Amino acid sequence: MAGKYQRGKQQAKAPKARKVELTHTVADFEAAFWPDEQPVDNAVVMTMGALHEGHASLIRAARKQVGHDGRVAVTVFVNPLQFGAGEDLDRYPRTLAEDVKLAEANGADVVFAPSMEEVYPNGEPQVRLSAGPMGEGFEGTSRPGHFDGVLTVVAKLLHITDPDFAFFGEKDAQQLAIVRRMVADLDFDVEVIGVPTLREEDGLAMSSRNRYLSETERTQALALSRALFAGRDAAAKGPKAVREAAAAVLDGADGVTLDYLALIDPDAFTEAPDDFQGEAVLAVAAKVGSTRLIDNVHLICR
Ligand code: PAF
Repeated sequence: MAGKYQRGKQQAKAPKARKVELTHTVADFEAAFWPDEQPVDNAVVMTMGALHEGHASLIRAARKQVGHDGRVAVTVFVNPLQFGAGEDLDRYPRTLAEDVKLAEANGADVVFAPSMEEVYPNGEPQVRLSAGPMGEGFEGTSRPGHFDGVLTVVAKLLHITDPDFAFFGEKDAQQLAIVRRMVADLDFDVEVIGVPTLREEDGLAMSSRNRYLSETERTQALALSRALFAGRDAAAKGPKAVREAAAAVLDGADGVTLDYLALIDPDAFTEAPDDFQGEAVLAVAAKVGSTRLIDNVHLICR
């Protein structure tokens, strides 16, 4: 008998059907994100679009954090400030209609997809944030100025969205470390939460850039995660063994042009010395065909 009790119980448990609102201006975003004065927790997931299952996990983590009645915003903005000359700004995938669907399916309330003029109304900003020495190594060496561009837009989007929580993927380990540091050093009133990297079944880290890989390149790209897992398996033997085990996989890996393989102290984001003990990040960056990929794993060195 489908009694009143059962129906009532079902109604109480059914998640509120969420219709995501797509906004393009700060004014519309604010009206959609704070429709009334109720003080609820809110969270932001910043993206450059081309959303995939990795982003979906960030949005779900944000929803879980703020609860059923909290508010979750997803920003979609391809930020030119963080692209260097010759990088893939023009060919960066733009898939807003699908992004909105993915955001909605995973629990977002609002998507904020502003134009260039909305984010930078006075043209290229004259004043920018600097990532300092933390932004110079690893990704920063290959991409000078990249993290200054990231921080400048992240700071702007934090001001616009004013969240209690901001979610970033651990896949961009250096970005996460630098954003955390900016929040601490410059007293931003937000808690930064890192979300573990999602991988395909064969180990490939999910990334918007994977769509550029041909079938052969995709297979070749698996050397990156294999190297990281080999390094992680050697963690009990110390940093030197970690580096050697990972390097052995990458040495001569077909189709992979290594940029860096590094064992990193995650707080300062500097190379871990050979006697380093504790939590470290083993990170790799390489070109496979013309696509630059990054990946990392966390491990405990003993
Ligand atoms: O990680 C990204 O997608 C971007 O660097 C971010 C944080 C959205 C800033 O443009």
